[in-house]
Amino acid sequence: PLPELVDSFKRKHDYLRISLTERCNLRCFYCMPSEGVQLSPAEHILTDDEIIHLATLFVRSGITKIRLTGGEPTIRKGLSTLIKRLDSLRSLGLTSIAMTSNGLALHRQLPNLVDSGLTHLNLSLDTLDPFKFEIMTRRLGHDAVLKTLGVALSCRGLQSVKLNVVVVKGLNDSEVLDFVNLTRDRDLWVRFIEFMPFSGNKWDRNKVVPSADLLAMIRKRHPSIEQVQTVPSDTARLWKVPGHKGGIGFISSMSDHFCSSCNRLRITADGKIKVCLFDPKEISLRDEMRRGANDTELLEVVRSAVWGKKEKHAGMDNIDTVSNRPMILIGAVIRPS
Ligand code: GTP
Ligand code: 5AD
Ligand code: SF4
Repeated sequence: PLPELVDSFKRKHDYLRISLTERCNLRCFYCMPSEGVQLSPAEHILTDDEIIHLATLFVRSGITKIRLTGGEPTIRKGLSTLIKRLDSLRSLGLTSIAMTSNGLALHRQLPNLVDSGLTHLNLSLDTLDPFKFEIMTRRLGHDAVLKTLGVALSCRGLQSVKLNVVVVKGLNDSEVLDFVNLTRDRDLWVRFIEFMPFSGNKWDRNKVVPSADLLAMIRKRHPSIEQVQTVPSDTARLWKVPGHKGGIGFISSMSDHFCSSCNRLRITADGKIKVCLFDPKEISLRDEMRRGANDTELLEVVRSAVWGKKEKHAGMDNIDTVSNRPMILIGAVIRPS
């Protein structure tokens, strides 16, 4: 193995998020500006070979979990082949191949992806109401996502299925208890996410519902709710209603950042390493590979980017004023076609 990816605050990085595409088949308002985004030319997007080359180096450097993101990762051609190739990195120490998807075009291909090596699935679904779905995503398809959820819950090879719910005041906050009810008879983790600001996403502090408020509201209905232990690097703080098969979580990016235990790195679809979700500084690994850099040189670029990672929120005092890529182009998340 190669030396681990450690930053100047002694944080060890073992979780890599790889964005497979900038495109998405939905247009969630909190992720994509209404005017759309300027997509990179196709030749700027990493090829499968380039992704595998980088993934191999990262796994040799201690990455044990890879999450595929986008845009919307399921619209990348040849996804199951790519997952199979990633699966072969298990012998080098990779233990999890996860994906975050909107589930719109997934129900048919999911069993095949799981056979190829996919181990964990996070589905984004913000509402149980088809009408609100259309408002939030600017597209139709609520029933297709529910179908995917059903398939995912019955897929034996998947080690976990989570639902990501971005909570926006006045839009879907009234549905929180309905989401909690979903966990009663299903082995499902529903995670409520605080709405975060990104370029062009109409963010406003008044639209954020703090996790503490949600917990208080849920507690009124379920007074016996209990906290579940997690590792500090987990984005979510988890809770369970006793007797429920699944559980709930809170991702409090706005009210309680988890930077001090951050273990993540990300590679954008156009091949840049981004050491923090909020850091506008990006270094192109694609350019290095295409100019013929050898592995030692590539690793040097990666290690120096990691070493430069700031203590929290990319060194900004106030993320309310962040000027960052829209979420769709970061691959913290997902995205449109
Ligand atoms: P797990 O591996 O299942 O814990 O997934 P995850 O929560 O890390 O990733 P997912 O793609 O499901 O994203 C859920 C939410 O966490 C989204 O709103 C992401 O933007 C947010 N998130 C993911 N990574 C980071 C990060 O490094 N920093 C911050 N602040 N938020 C993140
Ligand atoms: N704030 C919080 N979460 C967001 N996501 C996308 N945009 C935002 C935002 N502005 C979520 C998606 C997806 C996850 C990867 O990130 O809903 O589930
Ligand atoms: Fe919505 Fe995810 Fe697509 Fe963004 S990438 S528009 S959050 S489905």
